[in-house]
Parts: sequence; structure tokens; C-alpha cells
Amino acid sequence: MPTDWWRGAVIYQIYIRGFGDGDGDGIGDVAGIRARLPYLARLGVDAIWITPWYPSPMADGGYDVADYRDIDPVLGTLAEADTLIAEAHQHGLRVILDIVPNHTSSAHPWFQAALGAAPGSAERERYLFRDGSGAGGDLPPNNWRSVFGGPAWTRVPDGQWYLHMFAPGQPDLNWAEPAVRAEFEDILRFWFDRGVDGFRIDVANRMAKDPALPDLAGPVAPGQHPYQDRDEVHDIYRGWRRVADSYDPPRVFVAEAWMQDQDRFALYVRGDELHTAFNFDFLTTPWDCAATRDSIDGTLARLRRVDAPATWVLSNHDVVRHLSRFGRPPHAQGRGAHFVQLNALADSPLDIELGTRRARAAALLLLALPGSGYVYQGDELGLWEVEDLPDDVLQDPTWEQSGRTNRGRDGCRVPLPWSGDGPPFGFGPPGSSPWLPQPSAWKALTAARQEEDPGSMLSLYRTAIALRGTLDVLGDGPLAWLPDVPDGVLAFLRGRDFVCAVNYSAAEPWPLPAGASVLLASGPLPDGRLPADTGVWLEFRGR
Ligand code: NOJ
Repeated sequence: MPTDWWRGAVIYQIYIRGFGDGDGDGIGDVAGIRARLPYLARLGVDAIWITPWYPSPMADGGYDVADYRDIDPVLGTLAEADTLIAEAHQHGLRVILDIVPNHTSSAHPWFQAALGAAPGSAERERYLFRDGSGAGGDLPPNNWRSVFGGPAWTRVPDGQWYLHMFAPGQPDLNWAEPAVRAEFEDILRFWFDRGVDGFRIDVANRMAKDPALPDLAGPVAPGQHPYQDRDEVHDIYRGWRRVADSYDPPRVFVAEAWMQDQDRFALYVRGDELHTAFNFDFLTTPWDCAATRDSIDGTLARLRRVDAPATWVLSNHDVVRHLSRFGRPPHAQGRGAHFVQLNALADSPLDIELGTRRARAAALLLLALPGSGYVYQGDELGLWEVEDLPDDVLQDPTWEQSGRTNRGRDGCRVPLPWSGDGPPFGFGPPGSSPWLPQPSAWKALTAARQEEDPGSMLSLYRTAIALRGTLDVLGDGPLAWLPDVPDGVLAFLRGRDFVCAVNYSAAEPWPLPAGASVLLASGPLPDGRLPADTGVWLEFRGR
């Protein structure tokens, strides 16, 4: 594969604790991934992205890292990780790891040293410690709120406070401190030297903070927000790019940056910074033709200016699975609905059959758009969000930090069903208990069952990814909208002969254009027409 493989790759996200459990402790692990590499190779993806596997007290699903240069003993060993990287490469799969630079775990030796050191010490300088406000410093230093709920500050016994934009177990690092920069460049090299092909960067737009840590008050000029998308963050990435480019082949980055301002978003993928960034604008677009077309046009126009390829993402481990978003009425799927508090969805019933039909059409759309596409584990099995997890199994810190008002993200992290008629559905050995309970209805969705069914979601993904591999016009490259298409139908050309079309409208089935032959369809095409909530790949032969 060429060194710019990342411009048009299909990348599979492995949320490691929910993927495959090799040792039977109920938690997915490195052995579980190794055992399933043939499955991933057969699915046809180009790369895997593995969510954090480092030692972690699990204050936030592993995004609280205690040691960036090791593997959590619950998940495996460093030697086993090396073997996995080598085996993945033998299967033709690149390996992307997850780096968490905004914060460490409170169990990280740096933070432990900071706790043991005095206010103003070099150890505390690596984090954001401050005196409190109010009489006796009893109040937090400013009014910032944690993303998970509650204040973003926790007090330590000597009276100072430390900043954590997420859980209290995730203290924010001070990126103005040169030691922090040097440490992370070294961590990148540690894994690149082991053959890792790239990194997904957690919270990539939040590392730089205004050193004055002012209260959040009213609107601010672009680049001047006290804790997100500050201009200084770009300098960090120029340094990281130099590290990545010093390898042969060069290593790559994908940024996780949730941003309102899509023009600012494009700055992260300028030629001397990161290679790609997740397209959350697309992820948060409801099932609506005009909104989807706008999102695609906006994405491509902005990224063209910086010559970066787009990415297309529908689900990940932080959002309600897209099958469950698309299977609800429009008001429950719009922008913001991806983080919707699941208890707030109670009045908005899920139609699984509708969600599945749309998810099938969406798969064909995602895999035909220009750039790289992400598949979140279980998308290819047609899994839905598990919305009825009992309170006492919930693990996401959001649940407690929101005062038990937001049930959080566990519903999209439930371990995958691989085989068999009941839990653990081959996720772990018989008799093991997955760390989150699997719905018994997933019996119909196991990978083993879907293998045998040419009409299954798994078969659709496999066929589409395989076809994508044979069609040079897919992946990175231009897109042109097909003219004379009715409202409610999204249809575009890739190259001269390939068309992807999705009908979002319940009004009229769309008669397929004359001279087109069907390469693949997400559902039946009665009388040569494309019905609602269906997608199709067409080819004009010999044009
Ligand atoms: C984004 C990760 O995807 C999410 O799971 C995590 O909670 C936050 N960053 C904090 O690290």
C-alpha cells in the first residue's frame, strides 16, 4: 500500500474492552483482538484503531492513563501487544493507537508526585494546580464545568485545587510546560518504534489553556477561548508531525476534535499538522437529505482549501449508535441527539426495523464518499444502542457526575455478539460474564449467524468494502452531484461511471437512471426503483 494509504482507508474502531475476551474475565483484551484478526481481514478493512489499552484505574473507560508505555495487565502484556502489531501487519491491517494527551490518570506517577510536592513546585507545574477563590480559597478557582457534569476542579488536602475537564481521576496536563511536550513526543516514538502506524488523538482541541484560567464568560474571539481550540495547540501538532514524518513510512494522525466552527476545524489538518480529523459534523447530521448534502458539501469545500481528505464517521464509543438514532423520529436525531440522555428518549420509541434499513443505506453512503471511512465495532453487525442496562452495571462516570441524570455511553459499549444462542455469545469462553450484559435478542445478530446470510448487515459491509477495493474511483478523489434528481434523493458520481444514491424521502421511489446497472443495494429495488431509506451503488457501463 502507498504511504498515503490513510487518504482513502476504511478504518475499524476497536473498543478493546467490548471486542473479544481471550481469558474469560469478562473484559475484552489483546488476546481477543488477536483471535479475531482473520475476521477483520475478511471484513476487508485497511486498519484498526484500538482505544486505550494502557494501565488505567478505569475512571473513564481507559481514557485515564497511568502509564503510556505499557499495557494494562487486565488486557495483556507489552510483548503480546508487539505480537498483535506484527500479526495485524501480516493480515494487511495497519494499527492506530489512541493517545490521551489532555490529561493523565490521577494514578500517573507525575500526578502522584505533584500531590506529594508543595504548591508552586516543578511537580505541580506539569498540571494545573491553583489556589481557590472566595474566603479561605474554599471555592473553585474559576467557573469551568467538567464535560461529565459538576465543577472541573477538585481540592487536595493542602487546600489547592487541580483542573480536570473530565473526571476527577483525569487531571489536565499543563501544555505550556516544556517537559509535557517532550514527554509526549517521546511516547509517540516509543510506539512508532514498535511499528504502530498512527495515533488517534483524544480531545485534540483542548490541550492548550489560557494561562490566566479566566472564568468562562460570554462569546470569545476565535482562538481565544480559555480552554478549547486555542491557537497554541497548532504548534504542538507541528512538532508531532515532524516526529511522524521522521519515520519510514511516515506515521499518521487522526484528531478527535468536537468543534462548532468548521472553518477552525480545517486548521487542524493543514499540511504540516495532522493528517485527518473525525468528521463529527457528518456524525451529528440527522437522517435528512438536504442536511446530509449540506454536511458533505461543507466538509469537502473546507478540506479542499487545506488539501486534506475527509473522514466519514457515524458511530463511536461516545455516541448513541446510529441505528438507534436513525430509527427514531427526526426530533430525536438532530444535532446534539448523539449525546442525548437516553432517559430523555423514552417518549421517542425506537423502530429497529427502520433504523436497520437506514443504517444499511448509510453504510453504502459512508463507503462511497471521498476520503476515509470509519466503522465502529458492531456497526457491521447492525447493533443497536442498549438502552435498558440496569443502573447498577453502569460504568460511565457521566452517570454519577451528572447526579444520575445522564445514563452515559455504556449502551454503545456492550460486548459484541460473535456466536451462539445466549450470552456471552462467544465474546468470551462459555460461562464467562461480559462486563456489561448483552441483550438476548442479539442472538439473531451474532457474526456467526450473519456469516451464513447473504442478506445480513455483515454481508453488506463485506461486499461493499470488497467492491470499494476494486473500484479505483472510490476512496479519495472528487465527487460530483448527479443532476436532475428529485428532492429527497441524494445521488453523486465518483469518476464517470459510478453513482451512489440514497432515497431519504418516503414520497416516491426513485426510478433508477437508464443505462445503469446495480452493483449493490441496501434493500430491495422493486420495479427498478429506489424506495425510501434505501441506498444503491450503480455503474454506467461503457459510458
Ligand atoms: C474522548 C473519548 O472518546 C471519551 O471516551 C473520553 O471520555 C474523553 N475523550 C476524555 O478522555
